[in-house]
Amino acid sequence: MLRIDVLTLFPEMITGPLSQSIMGRAAEAGLVEVRAHQLRDWTHDKYRRTDDYLCGGGQGMLMKCEPIFEAVEELRQEHTKVILMTPQGRVFSQRVAEELAAPCTAGEEAHYIILCGHYEGVDQRVIDTLVDMELSIGDYILTNGAIAAVVVVDAVARLLPGALGDARSSVDESFSNGLLEAPAYTKPNVFRGMEVPAVFLSGNHKAMEEWKLEHSIERTRKNRPDLYEAWAAAHPEYFAPKKRKKTRLTSYKPRPGQEPPPPPQN
Ligand SMILES: C[S@@+](CC[C@H](N)C(=O)[O-])C[C@H]1O[C@@H](n2cnc3c(N)ncnc32)[C@H](O)[C@@H]1O
Repeated sequence: MLRIDVLTLFPEMITGPLSQSIMGRAAEAGLVEVRAHQLRDWTHDKYRRTDDYLCGGGQGMLMKCEPIFEAVEELRQEHTKVILMTPQGRVFSQRVAEELAAPCTAGEEAHYIILCGHYEGVDQRVIDTLVDMELSIGDYILTNGAIAAVVVVDAVARLLPGALGDARSSVDESFSNGLLEAPAYTKPNVFRGMEVPAVFLSGNHKAMEEWKLEHSIERTRKNRPDLYEAWAAAHPEYFAPKKRKKTRLTSYKPRPGQEPPPPPQN
């Protein structure tokens, strides 16, 4: 069971998206429980203020310590990890999603408190004292952390055993083996003159797997050279002459100044 408490000024931005489709069904099945809390519920003044001016001056407002500390102290349990959504954090990826889902995929429980910032962010003392992990969903600035939290919850919860109908669907996807997924087709076999590649109609599963690997590598090389280079360096055996003939792979071209991958070890 994965339990996530989200602290935000906009709880509806959490509950709406996460009640739909696969996430909604995972919650109904008891695999994940997401509770969105209004951070203002931990304020004590009549304006329910969660922000204040920057010390030393400067533009914008910052989220105050008091309501955040009180909320986390009330919600936190022994094994809870507190995650702050911030553009200054570690960049979220499939690897991080797998790390966060790991206790549950091992049959244990996990509890996360996700703290969503607003305005200019949160007081540094929150980060220093309460936060276990700072996470960014990419190098751009959102107005607040709620959408970023939804991204993280969705990516983690779909990895839980039973969340997806077909367990293989999260294994064969982009990033699971360091590559992007290969092109895929459905019926009809010919649409407006565009044909499904003949290999998919051949019934030859080995040839299909080879086609998919070849196109997966080519798509990664074209769209994500960073991933391609890392994958190529880790898989020199795919570029050895005998393998190249068999799988017809694109040859690896290091960038100027970059070392070519080491020769195969066999
Ligand atoms: C306007 S942003 C604050 C940006 C901050 N002043 C800075 O320059 O790093 C307000 C809040 O949105 C959330 N946020 C914005 N962009 C994000 C991103 N790329 N990843 C995760 N959270 C983000 C964070 O919770 C952040 O505290």
